[in-house]
Amino acid sequence: MAKLSAIRGFHDSTGDILERIERVEAVARKTLEFACYEPIRLPIVEHSEVFLRGVGHSSDIVQKEMYTFEDASGRSLTLRPEGTAGFIRAYLEHGLYKERPVCKYCYSGPMFRHERPQKGRLRQFHQVGAEAMGVSDPCLDAELITLADRTLRSLGLGEFEIHLNSIGCEACREPFKQDLVAFLQKNCTMLCEDCRQRIVLNPLRVFDCKVCKEAIEKAPVMLEHLCQECLEHFQAVKACLSAFGVDVNINPRIVRGLDYYNRTTFEIYPEEGGAQSVLVAGGRYDGLVETMGGPPTAGIGFALGVERVAERLQQKEKKPDLGVEKPSLAVIALGEQEKPALCRVLTKLWDAGTSAMPVWGPQGLKAKLRFVDKRGFRYALFPSDAGRMILKDMQAGSQSEGPSAETGWIMAHIHTL
Ligand code: HAM
Repeated sequence: MAKLSAIRGFHDSTGDILERIERVEAVARKTLEFACYEPIRLPIVEHSEVFLRGVGHSSDIVQKEMYTFEDASGRSLTLRPEGTAGFIRAYLEHGLYKERPVCKYCYSGPMFRHERPQKGRLRQFHQVGAEAMGVSDPCLDAELITLADRTLRSLGLGEFEIHLNSIGCEACREPFKQDLVAFLQKNCTMLCEDCRQRIVLNPLRVFDCKVCKEAIEKAPVMLEHLCQECLEHFQAVKACLSAFGVDVNINPRIVRGLDYYNRTTFEIYPEEGGAQSVLVAGGRYDGLVETMGGPPTAGIGFALGVERVAERLQQKEKKPDLGVEKPSLAVIALGEQEKPALCRVLTKLWDAGTSAMPVWGPQGLKAKLRFVDKRGFRYALFPSDAGRMILKDMQAGSQSEGPSAETGWIMAHIHTL
């Protein structure tokens, strides 16, 4: 029989790695909820149309990365490649734009993209995202960037850079695109095949290309062609970030790969590392609600790549920071007759809030103690020959004995030692 295996780019996580992943998710959620972002849980599968309209036809995601399939009734469905489009679908579907035109939400969960798997690039990965609707005030842009910054700092990561840009609004981007297209056409022979196609599809994306860096070094950049309103917005974002005490690098090449952005775009990079290492990314998307069938509504958000941030933590920390050492207790079953007493002991321990792992199975005491020790448990509890219980401290090698009908002595012991 063929061996079963996980799909490439889809990972199982346990142990230290999972601990870090869950810590990243918890800290990011806590930071956002603390700033009054309300949690929202969104479906993992949506009608494909949500992403076609939301993320946009010219994006790599829609062009080549979506997991799209037909369900039994022939509807085209897609595993969500990102969270924003689904969030806007929900915002419109539940009439939140009428009921709560100004609102802030956060979410977390798996996303799916059919990319070529490599370090930092998975096909199933997790994001914690934040979306804020109905406010075009540049302070909101700064607030979101600040919250991303605070999340990374709360996790103990200090070595990262925030890259900030503005890609203007439709009014200033259209004439700029013509200038850019003229430049790209003139230098067409120096561009890679993908970028030649981008001239027609989405010329701004050439700034994302790793291959054509040199060829576009002298290309005009949007930041120098902003209209007065976009320029004022950008300057106000910078001033507000400075009031929040957050340092940023201005980088006119941050154009983002999804079609919905306007004005503010930002990406957070670890100090060293390329495109596959972007930890957090986001921006403003004031036209997206309209594109998806709603009224003109301002919006802005970001998403943090959980695995990428967890990976950075792993490089930084030798051992995961589990906080105070948990009293870990294994309750070893030996012999049929003692099992009911052990079940009662376990219930009492769990009821009293003491974590304990039962160890069943036919092995003898020695083998079970070895197993418990290998798993890093500090204490082992097992029945003695005289119908009492023995509590062994695996670290100190000492042991004490008590009645099996009571658990107070066990708890006192493991919490005072
Ligand atoms: P994004 O840049 O496509 O933006 O993804 C955000 C973050 O998700 C990236 O910076 C990265 O950390 C992580 N990420 C993306 N693709 C992968 C992958 N294949 N493997 C591992 N991690 C990955 C968005 O998704 C937008 N929805 C962000 C946003 C929210 N903009 C406004 N609101």
